[in-house]
Amino acid sequence: MESMHVSLILIGISVLYPGTGSLHKLDQPVLLGPSVATEGSVVEFYCEIPGKPATLSVLYELYLETNQSKVIGEHTSNSEEIAIFPLVITTQHDGRLICKASGHNNTDIESSFSVGLDLKVIIPVEGARIISHPSSNDIWEGQTLTLQCTKTKGTYVSYQWFRNEKPVEMAYDRTDDTLIIHKLSARNTGQYMCVASNQYNDTAIFNSSDGLFVQVKEYVSKPEISVDVVKLKDGGFKAVISCRSEKGTPLNTFSLLNNTDVIATETSDRTSVLFSVPVELNRYMGHVRCNASNEGNWVLSEPADLTVESVEGAVTVTPVTYMRRDFQVVGLDLRCKVERGTFPFYRWFLNNSRLEGQGGFYAVVLPDNSGLSLSVGRDSAGLYHCEASDRLDNSTSIRSPRILINKEVLNRVSPVVAVVVFTCFALLNVALMACCIYGVVLRRRYSGKYLLIKQRRKMEIAVKQEDEEEEEEEEEDYLEMLEGYEEDVVLADRMSDSAAEDEGESVDETLLYEGAVSKSTDILEEFNL
Ligand SMILES: *[C@@H]1O[C@H](CO)[C@@H](O)[C@H](O)[C@H]1NC(C)=O
Ligand SMILES: *[C@@H]1O[C@H](CO)[C@@H](O)[C@H](O)[C@H]1NC(C)=O
Ligand SMILES: *[C@@H]1O[C@H](CO)[C@@H](O)[C@H](O)[C@H]1NC(C)=O
Ligand SMILES: *[C@@H]1O[C@H](CO)[C@@H](O)[C@H](O)[C@H]1NC(C)=O
Ligand SMILES: *[C@@H]1O[C@H](CO)[C@@H](O)[C@H](O)[C@H]1NC(C)=O
Ligand SMILES: *[C@@H]1O[C@H](CO)[C@@H](O)[C@H](O)[C@H]1NC(C)=O
Ligand SMILES: *[C@@H]1O[C@H](CO)[C@@H](O)[C@H](O)[C@H]1NC(C)=O
Repeated sequence: MESMHVSLILIGISVLYPGTGSLHKLDQPVLLGPSVATEGSVVEFYCEIPGKPATLSVLYELYLETNQSKVIGEHTSNSEEIAIFPLVITTQHDGRLICKASGHNNTDIESSFSVGLDLKVIIPVEGARIISHPSSNDIWEGQTLTLQCTKTKGTYVSYQWFRNEKPVEMAYDRTDDTLIIHKLSARNTGQYMCVASNQYNDTAIFNSSDGLFVQVKEYVSKPEISVDVVKLKDGGFKAVISCRSEKGTPLNTFSLLNNTDVIATETSDRTSVLFSVPVELNRYMGHVRCNASNEGNWVLSEPADLTVESVEGAVTVTPVTYMRRDFQVVGLDLRCKVERGTFPFYRWFLNNSRLEGQGGFYAVVLPDNSGLSLSVGRDSAGLYHCEASDRLDNSTSIRSPRILINKEVLNRVSPVVAVVVFTCFALLNVALMACCIYGVVLRRRYSGKYLLIKQRRKMEIAVKQEDEEEEEEEEEDYLEMLEGYEEDVVLADRMSDSAAEDEGESVDETLLYEGAVSKSTDILEEFNL
């Protein structure tokens, strides 16, 4: 009975809906409206089923996808009119909006849903500021600094960072609203600003008074210590001790330590200080160190000797470098040195007249005047010496021995070199002679032996004519071999002859050879007897 009733209604609807094929499901509604809206503004959204028959009564509902049970707008359309949802935008409206169409007071018609419409609810940025960790007045080199840009209000915010009004380097680590700087150094010091902006106020540039000044503090570095001594008006002496650190964020405190006792302390807004301590000459005064400290740390310098010795002992002049051209000494550097003395000062003399500063052929160099650079020539020839005295008190001085410098002396061949060269030459000559003599003797011996053997063989052959043929053959082979040798000797003779024509020296050798031949003839004659 009831199903009969339902089908009747459906037929009724199909009569009302002649153009659509669906009897029980509504067409998809279309939702229109802005995708961005500012909080508090009044915005309208529209929903309709295109081509809906005017007679069909449809209920349109607007809600957020995240909470279907919370309807934020409702409209019943009994005619062709479009559904309008005027909304006063609040943060709750942020999200995906959906329009639902259903049959009004008619649960038999199936509802349909629009495509979602994403709405961004923009809240203007307000109260932006930078929070620093660690606190901006206690930031030390080497640390990691985290700056966060916070705001009291604002949605869909993007952040930009500036240091001294320039965008920060890309190298910095960045996440959403924070800037992270690793391994801080002094060059990260500056005025930091963040710009938090969204579509509503996209030019929210903060000026410097809104930024945050970050000073990266530096630990005081190991101080360099140096000691100078000055003479006082009353005749006494004082040591002026300088303690200097390369870096260190003020205030810096320097104290002067003698072992562990603090002699003096000085606080400075710079990285160096001077201390003065009375000293006595030629007396052990011990060692001092600087202790440099600031808020961050403290470091000790190397120890410095406070004992001041007067110049004493021998004064020597040594050449340190030569400048040569074409094996000739053309320049020379001399160094003067006294055996003892903390603050020696030197003076140079040529033929007993003082050389100061720079002249035509010389220059006095090094802070204590201990160096003399010379160019060697006619002007610079003479006797040189230097004198050492105390820089503080030049009343006494010590002289070095005098040394003669001129071109001839410098370029004279040293006796040792001469001996070595001569010895080598002599040895070479002896070796050559030995070779010659050996060669001649050998040749003479060979040629003599050859003639001797040949003659004897001939004699023997004549005597033993009836000997076996095999034996004869053997002997002839031997003779042939000897004849080969004879030819070699003749060739060698010709060669030595032609050599004799070129060089007269080898004439003696040829003569010697001729003598050898005649001698061997003598031996043969002896045999014949
Ligand atoms: C959905 O809205 C209803 C009505 O305002 C509320 O009671 C419920 O807590 C909401 N649910 C969620 C998950 O927000
Ligand atoms: C629809 O139903 C509501 C109650 O659910 C009623 O107040 C309203 O009068 C009905 N409208 C029509 C057109 O029947
Ligand atoms: C953004 O605009 C609003 C409204 O004009 C203003 O109140 C707010 O101060 C602005 N924010 C910034 C950071 O300029
Ligand atoms: C920076 O902004 C402050 C208010 O936030 C203002 O008083 C000041 O004059 C501004 N300074 C400059 C240089 O614009
Ligand atoms: C150096 O000075 C610092 C700070 O005044 C102090 O803490 C430290 O003990 C001193 N060091 C020495 C070796 O005296
Ligand atoms: C220095 O004296 C030597 C003789 O002892 C002399 O030959 C030379 O020319 C002198 N040099 C100068 C620059 O007067
Ligand atoms: C010693 O020093 C004083 C002052 O510096 C100077 O006037 C004087 O000429 C010097 N004496 C000598 C020998 O160099």
